[in-house]
Amino acid sequence: MNKIRFSINGQQFDADQGATIMQVALENHIYIPHLCYNADLVPGGVCRLCMVEVNNEKIVLACRTLAENEMIVKTNTPEIDAAIRPVVELIIADHHFTCRECPANGKCELQKIMAHLHIDRRRIDNLRPPKNKLPLETLTPFLYYDPNKCVRCGICVQTCEKIYGASHIYFVNRGYETKIACFESAAHCDFCMECVKKCPVGVLIPKTE
Ligand code: FES
Repeated sequence: MNKIRFSINGQQFDADQGATIMQVALENHIYIPHLCYNADLVPGGVCRLCMVEVNNEKIVLACRTLAENEMIVKTNTPEIDAAIRPVVELIIADHHFTCRECPANGKCELQKIMAHLHIDRRRIDNLRPPKNKLPLETLTPFLYYDPNKCVRCGICVQTCEKIYGASHIYFVNRGYETKIACFESAAHCDFCMECVKKCPVGVLIPKTE
């Protein structure tokens, strides 16, 4: 495999040709905010949070951009912060209130992003739309879906599709009303748990819990 050499935030890295900026960054413990990226899936570029600056001239998505020889990557410029911070704040404001009883607490990607960007919780509380807590929904015979937490990243849909060839679950509605629903075929869900494991924010809850 041919090797390339490039820099992230001034540090030099060797990587295999064909690796994305995201892959190299995460492998080297450089955090780039992301919700829809999962190393086992094809990057969909859905959340748009993984923006990085390349060669001091343009902003690209780290999950979908291949690292190139001598490329200069910056993950933390004021421009990137200005682009993703408002998006993150609105996602969190639309997310449920408390992490305490969430099964994803401690491993939630939103918590990681909040800590990384030093998001101010009081500011988020002022942005929260007035809405009631929605009840858990039955997604498949084995799974509940919590619409209060979903960030609509699509990882569960893509995971199911990858394993079964066609997804048992899919998106319905639009905008803030978008949520996950199931096809009749979800009755055949064999509870492989892959969608539960890959969900970045703990939206899918096994009925056994
Ligand atoms: S992680 Fe790249 S767009 Fe979501």
